[in-house]
Amino acid sequence: QAMFHLGEMVTATQSVSDEVLELLGQEMNYQIQVVSPEEEDRELLDSFDITFGEDAGGDEDLLPRPPVVTVMGHVDHGKTRLLDTIRKTNVHEGEAGGITQHIGAYQVATNLEGEERLITFIDTPGHEAFTAMRARGATSTDIAVIVVAADDGVMPQTAEAIDHARAADVPIVVAVNKIDKPGANPSKVRQQMSDYGVVPEEYGGDTMFVDISARQGVNIEGLLEAILLTADASLDLRANPTMEAQGVAIEAHLDRGRGPVATVLVQRGTLRVGDSVVAGDAYGRVRRMINEFDEDVTEALPARPVQVIGFTSVPGAGDTFLVVEEDRVARQIADRRRARLRNAQFAAARKRVSLEDLDKA
Ligand code: GTP
Ligand code: MG
Repeated sequence: QAMFHLGEMVTATQSVSDEVLELLGQEMNYQIQVVSPEEEDRELLDSFDITFGEDAGGDEDLLPRPPVVTVMGHVDHGKTRLLDTIRKTNVHEGEAGGITQHIGAYQVATNLEGEERLITFIDTPGHEAFTAMRARGATSTDIAVIVVAADDGVMPQTAEAIDHARAADVPIVVAVNKIDKPGANPSKVRQQMSDYGVVPEEYGGDTMFVDISARQGVNIEGLLEAILLTADASLDLRANPTMEAQGVAIEAHLDRGRGPVATVLVQRGTLRVGDSVVAGDAYGRVRRMINEFDEDVTEALPARPVQVIGFTSVPGAGDTFLVVEEDRVARQIADRRRARLRNAQFAAARKRVSLEDLDKA
């Protein structure tokens, strides 16, 4: 009955929006407060005296850190080949069918004008099926490099990449790739990107476009320079390396030999072998850390991606991770998150039940 007063028709099997629930509470003199999952998680961590996020660790001890760059673009436009050329190795050839299926992460040392600087690259798949993965990639990044094949031009996932970069509010650098190909038309790419509001500097906009050939290794230095210029011009990239590590799991899977393996990006603090960690509802202790060259490492600094072995279950891609003082705390946080997740799955059903009860009252 109360629902009619609120001017909204609700059938017994529909779930209601949070706003309607709050209004309904008011009408019936109940104080209903809807808490978001993020707030709920913050409260959970609060109860362990843990702060997660940019504010953790305070303003002191902030040191410059490398930029984290996510490479996005339409399928087959050359993202993995580009990273390959930058690293001068050959991951690309080993990929099943040549289509990237998951996120890869690498840190490279660039040497521009005698100055050595690190850049962290996150490779994303371009296939249309992997929208969620790209969206996640864009949120843990400082800069988006959008690769556009000059013979193909702007395609659906190019436009999608622009949207992700905008939603995450990160600056874009455009790599116009495959300029070695006969049908390549780099100025058409500039025109098309302008139509999407990504306007090149040479047309009076604020986005750097760099013509490259990932295959022939043409102008890769120019692209790296554009990335560093963009980072220096618009971003204050600093992090506290002295605190316990925090970051995000960018990919995770179950390996036959190694058990759960999670690629994590350390965003602040230093991650060390032996640390107690929790990522989403997974926890464990860091037994081994492996870098992009399959070498064991003992610590990982801010902006470093690293594979972590030692979780007792597989974290979700996109889960935040943090180091806690002891295993017991890690397990408690993980257990409580898992319980909450289970509760949330029943919540919709419960909402419906209580509405039916209200109707009878
Ligand atoms: P997904 O990850 O599946 O979205 O593809 P991708 O963007 O990573 O493309 P990938 O690097 O796998 O390259 C696709 C194809 O384009 C491969 O055959 C590459 O060798 C080729 N390719 C990449 N860059 C260039 C280039 O600069 N010139 C030419 N001619 N071919 C290139
Ligand atoms: Mg790829």
